[in-house]
Amino acid sequence: MTLTIVGSQLGDEGKGALVDRWGGDADVVVRYQGGDNAGHTVVEGGAEYKLSLVPSGAVRGTVGILGNGCVVNPKTLFTEIDDLRERGLDPDVRVARRAHVIMPYHRVLDGIEEEVKADDDAGDAVGTTGRGIGPTYEDKAGRRGVRIADLLDPDTLREKLEYAVPQKRALVEDVYGLELDDDDRAAAFDVDALHEEFAAIGERLADEGMTVNSSDYLHRRFEAGDEILFEGAQGTHIDVDHGNYPFVTSSNPTAGGAAVGSGLGVTRVGDGEVVGIVKAYLSRVGEGPLPTELDGDADEEALADEIREKGGEFGTVTGRPRRIGWLDLPMLRHAARVSGFTGVAVNHVDVLAGLDELKVCTGYELDGEELDTVPTTTDRWERCEPVYETLDTWEPFDSSAVAEAGYDALPEAARDYLAFLADEIDTPIYAVGVGPDREETVELTNPFDE
Ligand code: GDP
Ligand code: IMO
Ligand code: MG
Repeated sequence: MTLTIVGSQLGDEGKGALVDRWGGDADVVVRYQGGDNAGHTVVEGGAEYKLSLVPSGAVRGTVGILGNGCVVNPKTLFTEIDDLRERGLDPDVRVARRAHVIMPYHRVLDGIEEEVKADDDAGDAVGTTGRGIGPTYEDKAGRRGVRIADLLDPDTLREKLEYAVPQKRALVEDVYGLELDDDDRAAAFDVDALHEEFAAIGERLADEGMTVNSSDYLHRRFEAGDEILFEGAQGTHIDVDHGNYPFVTSSNPTAGGAAVGSGLGVTRVGDGEVVGIVKAYLSRVGEGPLPTELDGDADEEALADEIREKGGEFGTVTGRPRRIGWLDLPMLRHAARVSGFTGVAVNHVDVLAGLDELKVCTGYELDGEELDTVPTTTDRWERCEPVYETLDTWEPFDSSAVAEAGYDALPEAARDYLAFLADEIDTPIYAVGVGPDREETVELTNPFDE
């Protein structure tokens, strides 16, 4: 069977922790979109692993696939694999030959475009991770991308670079009006230098037998009865189709992306379990609206600081402090519908313990109308006034003891909060996160047993 893990909100919901936990029952873990903009944390027995590209199952030694829907920076991948090897692990990662490569010029262009948007005062800067994600997907859709397969054939690689690189150089010089000579970014636009570097990367990928036909491989594993876990990166509300456009990433983290981005048929993926990972409050790194954001006055800001500190809400990739808000049910309803969740895992329930007040947004008011889901435009979403319900708070508890004893050991108010959430989105709770460690999870249902 398959299990697809999807971020329900704005990324950083704790997907890595659940992929790691359930990855023990999987035979293959597959990333199907995104690239090294992701930062997934796995904590095992106190040891912390921060993974951007290597699928989180690698910490348990499960085969990891980067599917055709991913954009891959091979240098990040090798650094991450080498670091894990130094820490005594032996990750087995295979990359789809159809996946697109993030080239140095993509990263440069990501930075330039963000700077230009930030300078024009229109408030369009997205606050990207600067990893070249958007420009690489643009080239994929524009049919001028470099794929992993191209790195394996030096002649094809040269042809692709000779076509794409002059266009990129012209974009920087003629459209953005920047002079590249004498700039330390010039090497990113030098065909010979790029060819030498990326042909060598192709050799390493070939020598280590790291490339794969993802569709063919996964189909065979599935037919052999193996369990396949799809590890979504980012989250529903930064999905390029279903999220808060244009403050989105450039891929489809929602569950449909798992089929498209891996080549395993949609009926196989749809036959399995789809679990939405929910943070018990909201965090957002980057720009864009956040109706329940705690930033209205000094009291709210103090509360946001408290949650940020307790929850360690600083970006895994960029270190930026994450913006904080109350749980937003319209956002969760949208997420549950778009991906067809069969269950949810709610993380960070420990972080909310000990607060003086606890609010949940149950709907919005917009222009005198009541809404129960997220409007389609950023402008309308920004103008939404949250409608809140205030729920009882709970006292701090011993996470390890609760995880061991099970759901009923959670404080009653926390169970009420979870029951309220599950009821509002009509989806059962499969797990509750009460701390970052693999063991600090209260499991009600293991999706692989369903
Ligand atoms: P991901 O991108 O969705 O995998 O999430 P990140 O790893 O970027 O961010 C989640 C952070 O919360 C990490 O530091 C995790 O170790 C941590 N975390 C995950 N689940 C829980 C939980 O239930 N409680 C607490 N306190 N931390 C958690
Ligand atoms: P994980 O997998 C949170 C955000 C960026 C920015 C927007 C576009 O760890 O949950 P991009 O670099 O993708 O073009 O940036 O998306 N973003 C994330 N926010 N978690 C992530 O990944 C993110 N990946 C991208 O901050 O707002
Ligand atoms: Mg993250």
